[in-house]
Amino acid sequence: MSRNLATLLEQPPTPVLVPESLLVTDAKPPLKWAGGKRWLVPHLRPIWEDHAYRRLVEPFCGGLAITLGLRPQRALLNDINPHLVNFYRWLRKGLLIEMPMKNAERHYYLARARFNSLLADGLIRTQEAAGLFYYLNRTGYNGLCRFNSQGGFNVPFGRYQQINYVRDFSPYVEPFSRWAIQLLRLREVEPRTRRLCVRRSSL
Ligand SMILES: C[S@@+](CC[C@H](N)C(=O)[O-])C[C@H]1O[C@@H](n2cnc3c(N)ncnc32)[C@H](O)[C@@H]1O
Repeated sequence: MSRNLATLLEQPPTPVLVPESLLVTDAKPPLKWAGGKRWLVPHLRPIWEDHAYRRLVEPFCGGLAITLGLRPQRALLNDINPHLVNFYRWLRKGLLIEMPMKNAERHYYLARARFNSLLADGLIRTQEAAGLFYYLNRTGYNGLCRFNSQGGFNVPFGRYQQINYVRDFSPYVEPFSRWAIQLLRLREVEPRTRRLCVRRSSL
């Protein structure tokens, strides 16, 4: 690793005092994710209320807009994206991001290089990978999640005016402790559940 990268990213693990403004105060989806259905939640809520005793199944859970909007007691969340699923699994454990997060191009590309070196070393399930994935998602272009043919994350810097980074994800621990999270292709999701989700699928 280059000295610059080490200096920026490998800060000593000192305890972080999280300002009130950086705590999660509601259940907003923590990531930017293409195709989010947050706008659907007000329409789904009255329908869901009669079924709230059931388990909500989201086979393509993505940015979790629906699940976090409806807040079911029980849910089965599934996605094919291992970085997304790793991030949610760390939310369940109470993710606290201690690394510096800056809306700055140089910092972004150093963090991207570090994330790619974790992927190359097979360390995609680590807390560091989850924290970097969050930072790259919030800071990169349009919240895209894109990889090159060698498997490297290659989304460019996003150029947002301002980003309100969250560091302390502890409010997600309680709901996530009641929800199962799977990393599967739709065709691998348990057959009965899959039948309930989609009647016919070529996936
Ligand atoms: C549009 S997003 C879902 C958005 C989500 N419903 C929301 O409201 O935030 C679609 C998700 O499906 C996942 N996906 C695509 N193909 C899949 C497959 N065959 N099996 C499981 N997940 C898949 C993608 O990784 C992506 O995260």
